[in-house]
Amino acid sequence: MMTTRAVVRGVGHYLPERIVPNSWFEDKIETSDEWIKSRSGIERRRFAADGETTSQMAAKAASNVLDMAGFQADDIDAIIVATSTPDLTFPSAATMVQAELGMTRGFAFDIQAVCAGFVFALSQANALILSGQAERVIVIGAETFSRILDWEDRGTCVLFGDGAGALILEASNGDGSNADRGILATDLHSDGRHRDILYVDGGVSTQSTGTLQMQGKEVFRHAVEKLVKTAHTSLAKLGLQGDDIDWLVPHQANLRIIKSTAQKMGVEMARVIVTVQDHGNTSAASIPLALSTGVAEGRITTGDLVVTEAIGGGLAWGSVILRW
Ligand code: UT7
Repeated sequence: MMTTRAVVRGVGHYLPERIVPNSWFEDKIETSDEWIKSRSGIERRRFAADGETTSQMAAKAASNVLDMAGFQADDIDAIIVATSTPDLTFPSAATMVQAELGMTRGFAFDIQAVCAGFVFALSQANALILSGQAERVIVIGAETFSRILDWEDRGTCVLFGDGAGALILEASNGDGSNADRGILATDLHSDGRHRDILYVDGGVSTQSTGTLQMQGKEVFRHAVEKLVKTAHTSLAKLGLQGDDIDWLVPHQANLRIIKSTAQKMGVEMARVIVTVQDHGNTSAASIPLALSTGVAEGRITTGDLVVTEAIGGGLAWGSVILRW
């Protein structure tokens, strides 16, 4: 049966210039390259320059994908930016991106689901396209987590980085089968009862900026269990299993979480895109950065079945399956 699909037309990214190796932390806090690498898989991360903002990085990632896909800004109907670190309380980072791109039509808004933000944004972009509200959507994940870190908390400050990734989805006709290109299944969840294991202890209505607070072990425990479950739920909607996946593109928080999730799903590491060693945890930006890296390296190619999954503060988590 003929059906509308949201098909990827391109993916791109932007990373700030400054590369910060693990050794940078060694004379600031009691830590070591060895501890960070062995507990998280992270070797380096990027930090935005002084004054460099989330919307600026998001706009650069968006320009990159527009060039790659051969579209002009005014070919786009909607921009969604997934971020927990917008430049200002309002307007949204997405409207800033819209202005920066010179886009004079359509609409733009932000989504805040922390590290699961990109998966939530993909799902909402898919809904806009399937309901006929938009034909082409730029979906961006962009973060400056370096602005909300407690530099004295060694359990968190070594884990995060800054960056932005973007992809373009376009409405296209499919036959309704799993062979169609585009988004094939989505699965989203949140459970606010766990809000105090990963949060920022400040915000607008408390009149402070705050810093990131995390009970790492607790988040880790929820992560593996919930990520495997959501990926299986999305696969089950299509009658598929771990074996059918060409590429698992997980949220890049911790290599041990990634390995454990992949193993429980029956996906060998050769079919997992891993960028956490170079980017650290870039929250909502991590999946589009990993997708962009996977495509640039010639690993993810047209027709591949790609499973993305992520979890973060809230807790909020979910998965999206798409055929590239
Ligand atoms: O993106 C959102 C989702 N976030 C995540 O998925 C993060 C999930 N959690 C994790 O990735 C891991 O829990 C961490 C990487 C944060 C920590 O790894 P862990 O194996 O759970 O270590 P831990 O927190 O249990 O700490 C073990 C030890 C502690 O020392 P004691 O109490 O055993 O003496 C910590 O104080 O390691 C110590 N430690 C450090 N040592 C050196 C914690 N941070 C550091 C550090 N350097 N940076």
